[in-house]
Amino acid sequence: MTYTVPKLTDYSATGLEKAVAECIRLCIDEASLVSDDAELKSFRDRWIGRKNGILTQINDLWLKGAPKDAKREAGIRVNELKARIQELVEAAHVGSDENAASAAERVDITLPGLRRPIGAEHPVMRTSREMVSVFQKLGYSVADGPVVDTDYYNFEALNFPPNHPARDTQDTLFIAGQQSKPQRERLLLRTHTSPVQIRTMEQMRPPIRIVIPGTVHRNDPPDASHSPMFHQIEGLAVDTNITFGDLKGTLDHAMKEFFGSSVKTSFRPSFFPFTEPSAEMYVSCFICGGSGKRGSDPCRPCKQTGWIEILGCGMVDPNVFEFVKDNGYDPKKVSGFAFGMGADRIALLKYGVDDIQLFFQGDVRFLQQWA
Ligand code: PHE
Repeated sequence: MTYTVPKLTDYSATGLEKAVAECIRLCIDEASLVSDDAELKSFRDRWIGRKNGILTQINDLWLKGAPKDAKREAGIRVNELKARIQELVEAAHVGSDENAASAAERVDITLPGLRRPIGAEHPVMRTSREMVSVFQKLGYSVADGPVVDTDYYNFEALNFPPNHPARDTQDTLFIAGQQSKPQRERLLLRTHTSPVQIRTMEQMRPPIRIVIPGTVHRNDPPDASHSPMFHQIEGLAVDTNITFGDLKGTLDHAMKEFFGSSVKTSFRPSFFPFTEPSAEMYVSCFICGGSGKRGSDPCRPCKQTGWIEILGCGMVDPNVFEFVKDNGYDPKKVSGFAFGMGADRIALLKYGVDDIQLFFQGDVRFLQQWA
């Protein structure tokens, strides 16, 4: 196909772009077809001949036809195009296929660059990272483990014996086709980050202080406060003479670092198979300041109680140490505390988001608010 200069109607950036690209493409095609000196001469005349060459035509047709407000942009584009065609025509010679192509591929480093939008950290990742760094400043190191784990690490070694009713609280998603394996080897999606407690104690001798951020799964139908996939931050400290006082002091300090020095903490009895005693820790509501009221309205995030539940914690159950006894965790010699919290829930509260699903829908308009 030989090129004939089209009349331009679309002077938008994309319209100009298309017209320019089409012209260059056909010039390259024609250049590649030149097979003797006579053809080369007529090719040159046709494209850059002063009187009625294609470049002259483009100049006349495109620039004169340009609406007023597109004149400047069209002028710039036509000048770029002229330079490019000039290059192509000069590079063309008999059997010039290769040369024309390489001229077309040449990068003009004087052209303006493309603006690439920079991403922003996801609010849940930001919350998790900030919480982890509070503990890193206390000397904790970061550990991680697999999201698909075995029954042994998710349950058995955390003192959930087979068939124990405490397993029911975990709404576990099991991997299919595992029935032929012994129960402890069967795979599942970890329901909490606690299996990394055991995995780390198998690898590192006491004393240890670790934080474990990670993804967990539970068979919860999605709604404004539940998601089948969410994020936890786990902590574990083991040494000689670790007491419940250490647990309270550490967590109280961490919450003041994270939420601000005016928050208070409160510990209420709870149950987890792998800690004894166990507790739920609340912080005084950082939205209403603990009053339960916002002006004359009830404070919704704390349900007017002035307290918000943030995490589960407790002293590591000696039965858990029994599973890693051979690596220095003799329950008669060491003690420790552990805690686990939901990063998504904390992000919801901290940023005043009312639907957890918004975190996982990938809507740029939502996520841009953290840019
Ligand atoms: N793993 C517990 C949960 O997911 C939280 C927890 C961690 C409790 C560590 C105590 C100690 O609910």
